Amino acid sequence: TIPALHSVYKEFFDIGAAINLKTIETQKDVLTTHYNSLTAENDMKFERIHPSEGVYTFEAADKIADFAAANGMKLRGHTLVWHNQTPDWVFEGTDGAPVDRETLLARMKSHIETVVGRYKGIIYGWDVVNEVIEDKSDVWLRESKWLNLVGEDFIAKAFEFAHAADPKAVLFYNDYNECNPEKRDKIIRLVQSLQNKDVPIHGIGLQGHWNLNGPSLAEIREAIERYAALGLKLQVTELDISVFDYEDKRTDLTEPTAEMLERQAERYEQIFGLFREYKDVLTAVTFWGAADDYTWLDHFPVRGRKNWPFVFDAKHEPKASFWKIANWQ
Ligand code: XIL
Repeated sequence: TIPALHSVYKEFFDIGAAINLKTIETQKDVLTTHYNSLTAENDMKFERIHPSEGVYTFEAADKIADFAAANGMKLRGHTLVWHNQTPDWVFEGTDGAPVDRETLLARMKSHIETVVGRYKGIIYGWDVVNEVIEDKSDVWLRESKWLNLVGEDFIAKAFEFAHAADPKAVLFYNDYNECNPEKRDKIIRLVQSLQNKDVPIHGIGLQGHWNLNGPSLAEIREAIERYAALGLKLQVTELDISVFDYEDKRTDLTEPTAEMLERQAERYEQIFGLFREYKDVLTAVTFWGAADDYTWLDHFPVRGRKNWPFVFDAKHEPKASFWKIANWQ
């Protein structure tokens, strides 16, 4: 018999999946059997939920919230302030010219109040600010319209607005490349500066877009240790273990090789072993999908190339990776 993954991890952390309106149909069984937490892959992003000024389209997000509730699953919110998937109108006046700081902050506030307010008591935590730290080592914050038009305190403001809208929500800063020491130092500096100003931030999301070669176990441990030292809860928010290196641009494979699946299982075994050691600080591990029939990695970084990053195969059968993380005792 196949144990339910979230039951195996009951004493450790939630097991989450990113979903969309299609996958809650096509992956319904695997989702409801093995996962106890959900994140909308796209449907709560600014462009989807607030496509033009004062116009909110909650249909898809509501369906996802209903699906979670109907199946007794927790729900995370993703994401409120990001440089991607945010419509141009947010930053422009009717004349197309950039808006001033106060106008943009007022728009941010009303967006956050409306979205967080709608799901108050339903969504338990939000990725309030996503990916604002620059990857290049000589730059501090990522260039964005939020940064250009508001200034650095757009980050603190987003957390304050979210906290005001739902004082019980767990508020996260979420980012990737958590194992790049220079980037991580900048993320830590940002979080500390928010904490010093008593900004309501409660957690850090480690996206966890990893592959067969990296990051190493020691590097992941270092990331968890350094973040945990800030006294915040941690979640792995977007886990996938790509069978390709980021630099690998091959497009010819239609199935994963046996070697890939073996190495992936070994990676999952080691990484979940490490996660279990940190159960007191790690409250959820969310995969950025649920099974290999659908992953955003099929289109990133190479368009239209199949990937197989999860612990369930394209038919939703457990892979070797599943057995390594489910039968760990
Ligand atoms: C991705 C979605 O999976 C894609 O469908 C979409 O086209 C682009 O965004 N970091 C994040 C997620 O925080 O929101 C991204 O999701 C993946 C990288």
